[in-house]
Amino acid sequence: MPDNLAKLREKQQAALLGGGEHRNIQQHLKGKLTARERLHILLDEGSFEEWDKYVEHRCHDFDMQAQRIPTDGVITGYGTINGRLVFVFSQDFTVFGGSLSEAHAEKICKIMDQAMKVGAPVIGMNDSGGARIQEGVASLGGYAEIFQRNVLASGVIPQLSLIMGPCAGGAVYSPAITDFIFMVEDSSYMFVTGPDVVKTVTHESVTPEELGGASVHTKISGVADMSFENDIEAILRTRTFFDFLPANNKQKPPRWPCKDPASRQEPSLDTIIPSEPTKPYDIKEVITKIADEGDFFELQPSYAQNMVIGFIRLQGSSIGVVANQPMVLAGSLDINSSKKGARFVRYCDAFNIPILTLVDVTGFMPGTVQEYGGIIKNGAKLLYAFAECTVPKVTLITRKAYGGAYDVMSSKHLRGDVNLAWPSAEIAVMGAKGAVEIIFRKDINDQQAIAARTKEYEDKFANPFVAASRGYIDDIITPRETRARVCRSFAMLRDKKLENPWRKHGNIPL
Ligand code: HXC
Repeated sequence: MPDNLAKLREKQQAALLGGGEHRNIQQHLKGKLTARERLHILLDEGSFEEWDKYVEHRCHDFDMQAQRIPTDGVITGYGTINGRLVFVFSQDFTVFGGSLSEAHAEKICKIMDQAMKVGAPVIGMNDSGGARIQEGVASLGGYAEIFQRNVLASGVIPQLSLIMGPCAGGAVYSPAITDFIFMVEDSSYMFVTGPDVVKTVTHESVTPEELGGASVHTKISGVADMSFENDIEAILRTRTFFDFLPANNKQKPPRWPCKDPASRQEPSLDTIIPSEPTKPYDIKEVITKIADEGDFFELQPSYAQNMVIGFIRLQGSSIGVVANQPMVLAGSLDINSSKKGARFVRYCDAFNIPILTLVDVTGFMPGTVQEYGGIIKNGAKLLYAFAECTVPKVTLITRKAYGGAYDVMSSKHLRGDVNLAWPSAEIAVMGAKGAVEIIFRKDINDQQAIAARTKEYEDKFANPFVAASRGYIDDIITPRETRARVCRSFAMLRDKKLENPWRKHGNIPL
């Protein structure tokens, strides 16, 4: 017994030290925290229960039997964030570069299986050189075991990936399947093939940062949802973000105490719409003025900026916001913004998070770039997502709602529960000028006739009254009362029940 106790202490010490003091220092010199330091910040103090601390790899090739480190490059277990259960894994780059061995993969799979049994989210902190090269195919098998679990957990428990170091090769596909990816600037990157392979195959010379750094994935590819300056900021913001999410797909999101009165009036919204119809305004200002305490957790803020997505709370409960941004491309829908919105709507729907849609959209973006890129199928993703979604849906048209984009943006016809409009709303097939140039083409050279017809079209359609007279809009509200009316609508919808017909799964235009 005393022998075993001494042995236990020795192993515990080895597990805490990871790859050794020298490698821990190297990790710090790169501006990164160690795997354990990251967990210490992520989880509530004293809440971490570690599993499989004594797991070691089973590889005998390449002298590996001489190098066994308890934990085998990944710390796993569970703990709490603001009192709510979460399963975690944190890859330890100081142990074989955080590379994934068969045993390392088994540890991750074990906590994922347990998270599924108890219905709790999984957060993975990725910092790894990929497949453990010495183990060969056993490591590839380990990845596939994780992928399979990621897929089965999708839509059942929230899955979050923090990329805090290298993430290369097929290893990127596990984070890609999870719900959200957060990256750390200048110290993390993701790519399917590294710069050397790129050079050989396409003759391009790129640095890892140029190929798959945080800037690339948050601005160009849209693979990552957010990036942060350093590990600490990334982890603290993850804690804040976690508070918006439910534990699983059977639960509602948590309800937090709220001091902001639901009836709060916001007179400044009465003048936010410019008198000039083509002049933009910032839809984020509208969002923050509606939200509890002005708090908006925006996702993908630097990608497809003509669409704004993220979470707010109303009366303490999480609400997903999907909004056109008139400041970028006049709020029009293009390929990237449609995909961005669609994926977010589907996330909210899977996890019982009601959706507030703010509409100011001139239509789908025209042009060969969009058509060749498949705007038809990509735009249909957003349409499909809103149409299939069964969570409470409140829609507010602030200004333009033109054409197919009117239909798509959570209209009454796509089972919008409460559809509101400001008096400034214009609900029409298209803008007056374009409409007149088509239906009165023969008068195109008669300036006076065109001006008169344009005025006629504007008088008829540049308002919310025609749509309201058909019941497509439930009410026309003053901007200042928006928060009160939206809060009341979601309160009414709190116990909404709606089911789609049984099917194995739909066939969303991927
Ligand atoms: C085993 C690895 C390793 C790996 C790194 N190490 N990657 N050990 N398997 N995949 C070890 C190194 O030998 C070194 O050990 C320590 O980790 C730190 O690595 P360094 O190279 O010194 O660190 P750095 O300079 O920061 O470079 C990090 C790196 C580089 C860019 C990740 O190590 C690298 O390119 N590694 C190989 C990446 C790779 O090709 N992986 C396979 C991808 S394919 P010592 O003892 O010296 O400290 C893949 C397939 C998955 O993952 C498929 C899923 C479907």
